[in-house]
Amino acid sequence: MENDWYEAGHVAIVTGGSRGLGKAVARELLARGLHVVIDGRDEAALAAARDELARVGNVIAVPGDVADQQHVHDLIASARQLRRLDLVVNNASTLGEIPLPRVEELSRETFERIFQVNLFAPIHIMQHALHVMRRSAEGGTIVNITSDAAIEAYPAWGGYGASKAALEHVSRVLATELDGTHVRVLVADPGDMDTQMHRDAIPDADPRDLRDPADSARALLRAVAEMKEAYVRVRLADLVPA
Ligand SMILES: NC(=O)c1ccc[n+]([C@@H]2O[C@H](COP(=O)([O-])OP(=O)(O)OC[C@H]3O[C@@H](n4cnc5c(N)ncnc54)[C@H](OP(=O)(O)O)[C@@H]3O)[C@@H](O)[C@H]2O)c1
Repeated sequence: MENDWYEAGHVAIVTGGSRGLGKAVARELLARGLHVVIDGRDEAALAAARDELARVGNVIAVPGDVADQQHVHDLIASARQLRRLDLVVNNASTLGEIPLPRVEELSRETFERIFQVNLFAPIHIMQHALHVMRRSAEGGTIVNITSDAAIEAYPAWGGYGASKAALEHVSRVLATELDGTHVRVLVADPGDMDTQMHRDAIPDADPRDLRDPADSARALLRAVAEMKEAYVRVRLADLVPA
C-alpha cells in the first residue's frame, strides 16, 4: 500500500536534510525513486550528506537558511526545474539558544529567531509550494514536523514549544482552507530521537532511550501514505515498534 503512494519521478523538498530526521527522510524518499531537494546552513555538512545520499538516488542540495526568503525561492526553483512538487517536509528547526532559557530569561532576539525558523519559514515555504501543488491535478502533501513541546508545558521549552504550537494551528487552519483541493497537511511529532538537536537540548539523555531517526523516517513515510483525511496529526512514536 505504501509503495503505491510513492511514485518514481515525484519530487520532494526536505528542509534540514544534512543530518538527523531530515537526512533519514530524504534517504527513504530517494530509495522509493523520488527526486529530493535538501537544504541546511552548514555547506560542508550539506555537501557530505548530498554525496552520501546521491548513492541512493537523485538528490539536489541547496545550501542556505530557511529564514532567508531568497533561499526559500531557490529551494522552490530547484523543485520547479524538476517540473513538479509532490511533497514538502518542513523539518529544519531551531532551539534558539542552548541551554534553553526559561520564559523570564527568553530574549526578544532569541524568541524572534525561533519564530523565524520554526514558524515563518515553513509558512513561507508552504505558500510557495501551494502555487505549484494547486496547479497539479494530483495536488500534493505538506508535512510539518512538530514536537510534544507544542502541547506539553515543559520548563524552558516555552519559546520552541510556542513556535511549534503556532505551526500546528496554522497547519490546521490551512487544511480547512484547502478543503476541496488535492493538497493535504500532515503534522508529525517524531518523539525523542537520537539526533544533534536532542544532544544539544538534553545532553545527559541516555541514547538507548532515544529512537533512531531512520525508524521515525520510515514511520513518517507510512503516515503520509496512509493519510485518510486532509489534515492529520500523528505521533510517530506510536507507529515505530518499541
Ligand atoms: N530530536 C528530537 O528528539 C526531536 C523531538 C521532537 C521534535 N523534533 C523535531 O524534528 C525535526 C528534526 O530534528 P532533528 O532532531 O533531526 O534535528 P538536527 O539533528 O539538529 O537536524 C536539524 C537539521 O536542520 C538543519 N537546520 C537547522 N536550522 C536550519 C535553518 N535555519 N535553515 C536550514 N536548515 C536548518 C540542520 O543543518 P544546519 O544546522 O547546517 O543548518 C540539520 O540539517 C525538527 O523539526 C525538530 O524540532 C525533534
